[in-house]
Amino acid sequence: MHGDYVQGALAQTTLLKGQYDQLTVQIEHLDCISFLKSLEKSSIDVLITDPAYSGMNNYLKLGSGRIVGKYQSENNQDWFEEFKDTEENYLAFLKTAYDVMKENSHIYIMFDSFSLLTLAPLVRKVFHVKNVIAWDKVNMGMGHYFRRRHEFIIFATKGNKKLLSRSIPDVWSIKRIRANYPTQKPVELFQKMINASVTEGANVCDPFLGSGSSAIAALKSKCNFFGADISTKAHKLSQKRVKIFKEKGIDMLENHGKNF
Ligand SMILES: C[S@@+](CC[C@H](N)C(=O)[O-])C[C@H]1O[C@@H](n2cnc3c(N)ncnc32)[C@H](O)[C@@H]1O
Repeated sequence: MHGDYVQGALAQTTLLKGQYDQLTVQIEHLDCISFLKSLEKSSIDVLITDPAYSGMNNYLKLGSGRIVGKYQSENNQDWFEEFKDTEENYLAFLKTAYDVMKENSHIYIMFDSFSLLTLAPLVRKVFHVKNVIAWDKVNMGMGHYFRRRHEFIIFATKGNKKLLSRSIPDVWSIKRIRANYPTQKPVELFQKMINASVTEGANVCDPFLGSGSSAIAALKSKCNFFGADISTKAHKLSQKRVKIFKEKGIDMLENHGKNF
């Protein structure tokens, strides 16, 4: 019985290995704009991303607060560098993203409630904004004025590509995960974006990769993946996570988080 299980697991691993070896996974240690500029123009089928916004923390001036305190302390290993999300930088990011996307393609950009009201309108200057999806995290988090339980995802197109299904609602209830990497998102969230837009073999891109959740989602959907992060820690972590997933079919951050 045990032997059968081991044989089965080995066969599964071999299968997984072969299967993922066909796919391209490129993970770079770069700023989002330099990375996007390094990609071939009009090559990406779907861009899914969760940028590191600085606006909410600056506006709320929670300098000694739990979250910002960590963002701001020098040499802090727990938190990452924020994208300096001035309007100018954000537009530059959007335009560079536009250039690498195929003529008819989709983009999903995550927003917190603050950046939705400040930066999100800029997305209209570059893309056709089709909807704002609410991600219901099921369990509530922190917050002084009503505790936060949701985030937003802007769905927009370059050109005129339809979704693969017309029956997906715009509220997605997916449980938040106990993060290993700060603001780590569930793989399932990114898979939902990918599977709504593309089929196997598509080119998926995330220029704010973090722990690599979007890369794992792309592999699970049998897509190629192109991603980057400015942080050394994120770059190393996401590379390791993808390597282990390709070799063993195990997602080390969602299944065995405490050990990594
Ligand atoms: C919200 S986190 C992404 C988390 C990721 N979705 C996950 O599930 O792990 C944003 C990431 O953007 C990265 N970042 C900040 N500024 C950047 C920049 N200019 N270019 C690329 N990455 C940047 C941060 O290092 C951080 O890892």
